[in-house]
Amino acid sequence: MKGNLCKIGLLGMGNIGTGSYMVLEKEREGIKARTGIDFEFVKILEKFVDRPRPVKVPLEKFTQNPADIFEDPEIDVVVELLGGIHPAVDFMVDAMNHGKHVVTANKAAVADSYELLRDTAEKNRVMFRYEASVGGAIPCLTAIENALLANRYEEVYGILNGTTNYILTKMGDEGLDYETALAQAKEKGFAEPNPTADVEGIDVANKLSILLALCFGVRVRPDDIPRTGITGVTKADIEAARSRGNVIKLIANAHYEDGRLVYSVKPTELPADHMLAAVKNELNALWLKTTEAQELMFYGKGAGPLPTGSAIMGDVIDIGRAIAKQAAYDIVVPGKTE
Ligand code: HSE
Repeated sequence: MKGNLCKIGLLGMGNIGTGSYMVLEKEREGIKARTGIDFEFVKILEKFVDRPRPVKVPLEKFTQNPADIFEDPEIDVVVELLGGIHPAVDFMVDAMNHGKHVVTANKAAVADSYELLRDTAEKNRVMFRYEASVGGAIPCLTAIENALLANRYEEVYGILNGTTNYILTKMGDEGLDYETALAQAKEKGFAEPNPTADVEGIDVANKLSILLALCFGVRVRPDDIPRTGITGVTKADIEAARSRGNVIKLIANAHYEDGRLVYSVKPTELPADHMLAAVKNELNALWLKTTEAQELMFYGKGAGPLPTGSAIMGDVIDIGRAIAKQAAYDIVVPGKTE
């Protein structure tokens, strides 16, 4: 970092890349005042330069060549928002091998290549942060990796996908059909580019895989998590649940049964007065039972460009502050699995 300017390279300017850029545009002066560091997106890897965006981006910031970012000695932090596993993982590894700190919201990539990404960060003595990959704006991973480090985990329950929670809410509360509710979720920028990942529970399995690593220190690949999505949930199911005083939510859970850790992602009937039943639309919630802090619930926007951009910029700012203190490296990797 030269002077107090922290330069960011961005990989991918879709919904979430645009949201992150907008968060920094709006908040740049305040962030500078609060941290003493000025942050700027200086280069952006993006094919669709002309895509209509709610923010003006100088054309000279765009590039089609990732090396323009990795090999630029002035870039401190690379933010990966391409989505998918490849080439996202390869790019993150390449960036770290060039000494860049990396921030991502890409739960599929983190869940797939958790050890590789953390080991590469450790080897290169750079920081790797992925708060936005679970729960959008909710700072749950930061809490797990910092404030809750004195705890062991007993139970984890979460509503961790904005799109499916939006669809189930609209079907239940407004009588919308599945297709209309999904179309709205896409329009609002909640859904994945291929919403199958949302509605089949794959996105939630990725997030639960990350939580299993951080909370329980176990590495469970997303494909090994028993999973049912919401495509089989009908209006009739929702009505029947309602007649029993219940609501249906897509729940990720992990808990112990007879001393064995069990986990799954599945549509679950909850009593209408359950805390997680009150989590509507694109809101997410993570309920944790730990040994010392005991019961906690995190709640907030789990999807959408600005909320997700907030979490991404939080990670970037954290890294910028660590660089300024000359402490920007992950030596002992918190939550590292065996
Ligand atoms: N498609 C995801 C969701 C985005 O709907 O929650 C945030 O991870």
